[in-house]
Amino acid sequence: MAKQEDQFKKVLSHAKEYGYVFQSSEIYDGLSAVYDYAQNGVELKKNIRDYWWKAMVQMHENIVGIDASILMHPTTWKASGHVDAFNDPLIDNKDSKKRYRADVLIEDYCAKIEGKINKEVDKAAKRFGEAFNKEEFLATNGRVFGYQEKINTILARMGASLEKEDLLDVKALIEELEIADPLTGSRNWTEVKQFNLMFGTKLGASAETAMDLYLRPETAQGIFVNFLNVQKTGRMKIPFGIAQTGKAFRNEIVARQFIFRMREFEQMEMQFFVKPGTQKEWYDQWKATRLKWHLSLGMGAENYRFHDHDKLAHYADAAADIEFKFPFGFKELEGIHSRTDFDLKAHEEFSGKKLQYFDHEENKSYTPYVVETSIGLDRMFLAVFSNSLQEEALENGTSRTVLKLPAILAPYKAAIFPLVKKDGLPEVARKIMGDLKWDFNVFYDEKDAVGKRYRRQDAAGTPFCITVDHQTLEDKTVTIRHRDTMEQKRVKISELKEIIEAEVAVKNWLQRM
Ligand code: GAP
Repeated sequence: MAKQEDQFKKVLSHAKEYGYVFQSSEIYDGLSAVYDYAQNGVELKKNIRDYWWKAMVQMHENIVGIDASILMHPTTWKASGHVDAFNDPLIDNKDSKKRYRADVLIEDYCAKIEGKINKEVDKAAKRFGEAFNKEEFLATNGRVFGYQEKINTILARMGASLEKEDLLDVKALIEELEIADPLTGSRNWTEVKQFNLMFGTKLGASAETAMDLYLRPETAQGIFVNFLNVQKTGRMKIPFGIAQTGKAFRNEIVARQFIFRMREFEQMEMQFFVKPGTQKEWYDQWKATRLKWHLSLGMGAENYRFHDHDKLAHYADAAADIEFKFPFGFKELEGIHSRTDFDLKAHEEFSGKKLQYFDHEENKSYTPYVVETSIGLDRMFLAVFSNSLQEEALENGTSRTVLKLPAILAPYKAAIFPLVKKDGLPEVARKIMGDLKWDFNVFYDEKDAVGKRYRRQDAAGTPFCITVDHQTLEDKTVTIRHRDTMEQKRVKISELKEIIEAEVAVKNWLQRM
């Protein structure tokens, strides 16, 4: 646990020191759970967004993108259910005065039992060695079976109580399980209450005429209200998708863990409209496709897992998270939801406008079903950043801090150094930079010894360093150093573009899917 916390602290300080993420309005002591992306962070974030957009929009003939407004007609949120149901069940501890999400307290309790299961598995794996069969062990070991049954019973009861809005039973469950305040150990709890997460604002100049609005809590509704406009003007045939990326706002109560849970964040969402009855097939397909997208970045298959939901949102008939192993454990990174025809039907009812699709093959109109993929851009940023930050022991007994970002996502693809600041070397280095910057984001540095400059770029995540030295003046060659292997090669200046391209071309990354 302490190791995890240390690693997380390193992530936070590295993100600041290397110009990735700053606390918002830091000079005024910041604003809780609101962050700014700095000069390198903004590039990494843009590259993640572009990688998603390429895979989700431009590589699919039947998916198009839009950019809807943050402010929407307030009835949108009545129709979507957010006014009535976008609540978190909260509970306060009377002694510590700390507020928690009741469902998260219960889920964390179950995660601890899951930890016990994992320990049993590890022990058995050691005992049986190569002959160990994990599936068989999980299905037959009495103790593990008991743990799993306990988890299932707790989660099923919590799901049912939340579904029925039986908050008294949620509190009763917390008491029966003897769940204590994680910070103080106190079990002196208040009742569980619902709290709406939407931020309100006003449109209009005078207090009397102003209209109450909400900042959108998800980008999805901007897609639903534009469904027919896009379908008709784009002459889209079902199945088809509409994607968008953009800001969303939630008045999160438990806003901890850096950019993992923010009050202002960015989502990358895609709604896929399908024929009713085919949603299960598409849901399975999108689950698989989205996992492949994550795996294409090479951050380790063992760091991802699916979590199928027992407790479904008001609009869904199936839902799963892709969880990622963050420094504080496995947590939701992306959601895949089979949203039924809930949203389109609700908007039809509240707006009085028909939102149906005419299927020429079937010669009839129907309300499409929707499968949604929804990922937080900031959460993806944290996944990439924390996974890439490594402390590496070197052969000479020293160590280096290296940010092994997938090269396709790195803010700068190459840094260009003149070995010394004289003899015409800076001019040649700047000429190389001038040529490369048409194709890649590149960085120039002539300060300090070259070894120090290498270390700075390792820590900033730049995949290549190119050094211009006196030999360059004679034979037009430079040294190119690879961030991950630290291998240095002498190559012709004319070969640089091809070498970098091979490592950062989006095609090479997405083809791994
Ligand atoms: N349209 C469906 C929807 O919004 P969600 O599970 O509430 O579903 C989708 O959110 C994704 O948005 C999450 O998987 C997460 O990556 C991201 N997300 C949600 N709340 C967030 C927050 N407060 N801060 C950062 N990211 C958040």
